[in-house]
Amino acid sequence: MSGPLDKLGRGMRDLRISLTDRCNFRCRYCMPVEVFGPGYRFLPREDLLSFEEILRLTRLLVPLGVEKVRLTGGEPLLRNGIEDLVAMLAAVEGVKDLALTTNGVLLAHHAEALALAGLTRATVSLDALDPATFARMNGVGAKVERVLAGINAARTYGLKVKVNAVIQRGVNEGEILPLARWAKEQAIDLRYIEYMDVGETNGWKLAEVVPATELLEILGQEFDLAPRDPAYRGEVALHWAHADGTCEVGVIASVTRPFCRDCQRLRLSADGKLFTCLFAASGQDIRGMLRSGAGDEMLRAAVRGMWAVREDRYSEERGLAAKPKAEMSYLGG
Ligand code: GTP
Ligand code: 5AD
Ligand code: SF4
Ligand code: SF4
Repeated sequence: MSGPLDKLGRGMRDLRISLTDRCNFRCRYCMPVEVFGPGYRFLPREDLLSFEEILRLTRLLVPLGVEKVRLTGGEPLLRNGIEDLVAMLAAVEGVKDLALTTNGVLLAHHAEALALAGLTRATVSLDALDPATFARMNGVGAKVERVLAGINAARTYGLKVKVNAVIQRGVNEGEILPLARWAKEQAIDLRYIEYMDVGETNGWKLAEVVPATELLEILGQEFDLAPRDPAYRGEVALHWAHADGTCEVGVIASVTRPFCRDCQRLRLSADGKLFTCLFAASGQDIRGMLRSGAGDEMLRAAVRGMWAVREDRYSEERGLAAKPKAEMSYLGG
């Protein structure tokens, strides 16, 4: 069975599954504490897709083209029993790549069980090595050592680890070179992310974006870097390899160099809505269909239909029209 193409000729390849809208961090660029404070109403338990529902959907989506699956959040390690879900998904025929995006603070606890369950890759967010800057950015005073311990544990148990760092002007520009030095020393692939205008709560300003060109200029002062070609269609980062071959550094330049043309990502929110773009306001309620007894063919037809009319390319159109957007902590990073 061939997978559907959207209106811009893009297939469906990466499925990103949000397991929870909760997080134990309050990064200002994602979940500012003024909004996500004690009174914030997170999704009630019964609204979350069960592991069985997630498994069923994943199985249904593989014949439509999905071959990469990423578990995300919120913070996915807050979801009880995540190892069981990993084992269930790792066994799905056709899922060639199963990865996790995490803030890393609970990773040391879970690394062994995740690896045993069949996880192969973890992407850990780390915006600063300086303890004070890190504590300020995560909004809860979490210690950078715990994240570093999580990264170490993951590697010890054989997971391939990548690190993501969001760079925000006036906040952690000073961390660009220290992070690059550390990553090279550890032989870990590092990707900087341009600060994005996701959601409605982070007060994003273009002036706070450190563009990819500037990042590369800063890195070029100290490192000998050679560009490398994209590994696959739709890869989000621009990559450079260290000349000595230790590892790579990349930039996810969603603001200054959008990659919508090749975007093959489908996002499933924790409460079972399918989003065709990170910047969409709403998604298709697949949970409602699942829970009202829809059969496999009906579900697949709904997803095909949704994909056939997809024409999202928010990052390429940024600034042209101000439309409301869902929060990233809810729909998945
Ligand atoms: P690999 O599977 O390792 O290639 O990872 P990936 O390319 O899927 O990237 P990852 O999941 O690590 O995404 C890194 C970050 O890039 C995300 O957390 C977002 O901040 C950003 N990003 C990922 N996908 C998109 C997207 O579709 N649109 C935009 N604008 N940004 C994205
Ligand atoms: N801009 C860029 N990256 C963001 N992330 C969360 N919010 C933003 C934003 N506004 C990143 C996180 C994490 C990944 C899931 O997305 O830092 O690395
Ligand atoms: Fe949590 Fe990640 Fe959002 Fe930070 S960026 S608040 S770690 S979901
Ligand atoms: Fe894909 Fe939307 Fe991101 Fe463009 S803005 S790359 S269409 S998720």
